[in-house]
Amino acid sequence: LPSGFDIKPINGNIGAELRGVTLSGDLHPAVLKAIQDAVYEYKVIFVRDQHHIDDVRQEAFGRLWGKLVGHPTVPSLGGTEGILDVDGSRGERASSWHADITFLGDYPSITILRPHELPDRGGDTLWGNTAAAYAELPEPLRELAGKLRAIHTNQYDYVGDRGNVREDGLKRFNEVFTSTVYETEHPLVSVHPVTGERTLLVGHFLQRLVGFGTSDSNRLIGIFTDHATRPENTVRWHWSPGDVAIWDNRATIHRAVDDYGDRPRVVRRTTVAGDVVVGVDG
Ligand code: SIN
Repeated sequence: LPSGFDIKPINGNIGAELRGVTLSGDLHPAVLKAIQDAVYEYKVIFVRDQHHIDDVRQEAFGRLWGKLVGHPTVPSLGGTEGILDVDGSRGERASSWHADITFLGDYPSITILRPHELPDRGGDTLWGNTAAAYAELPEPLRELAGKLRAIHTNQYDYVGDRGNVREDGLKRFNEVFTSTVYETEHPLVSVHPVTGERTLLVGHFLQRLVGFGTSDSNRLIGIFTDHATRPENTVRWHWSPGDVAIWDNRATIHRAVDDYGDRPRVVRRTTVAGDVVVGVDG
């Protein structure tokens, strides 16, 4: 490891904190490699005290991973190439399990997130390891999963898990988030292009399994998703100003915790282009 660089794993199956690194768009190749290796091993990593990271530097760091891609329907934050501003006051609470933008065939490989404004309490984020979830399945279930294909779409219920919803938030989801409807078919098990691990491609954009009726489809999806969201396969992060999280969007699902009421919470997200998903049969 580069000198001063330290990796502190958080939980048994996911998450690590990196220390001794200052993120920028101009990292020594050995430092970048060490960060990338840590992301692929621990699935989500956290770097504290990166107060110097603004929108421009977040995108410069993101470009070290590949081409930046914005959200396909939500306009990028003004002045940025592709930052998505996720603002709880607009109803953007991300409070159900998902991987980012899986309704595209080549959905993002990496996500970089930093808090812009934090509530004085609440608003944590959780991640689940979908490679560990696949690996722990009993063999007959792994075999079944490998044969399944699934439809992912952005036409899903963005407010389904919320206790109460403001009408203006609902309008925004209908008019902006689903202004163009995307639908794509993915294998349920994908082979990670970097690590070669098999992962379960689940999350809230997964609408149904191909060839199954709704109730069988929902129950099967529930079985697989439950493995990825077991506490044993998850990590929960309580944000502080200056934190940056970087995750492997092809080996995790995540969700925010919507417990901050009317207190402000804004996070800023950068996503890096991915590849067309490859299943176990190639
Ligand atoms: C997201 O899912 O893009 C944002 C996660 C969060 O708000 O913590």
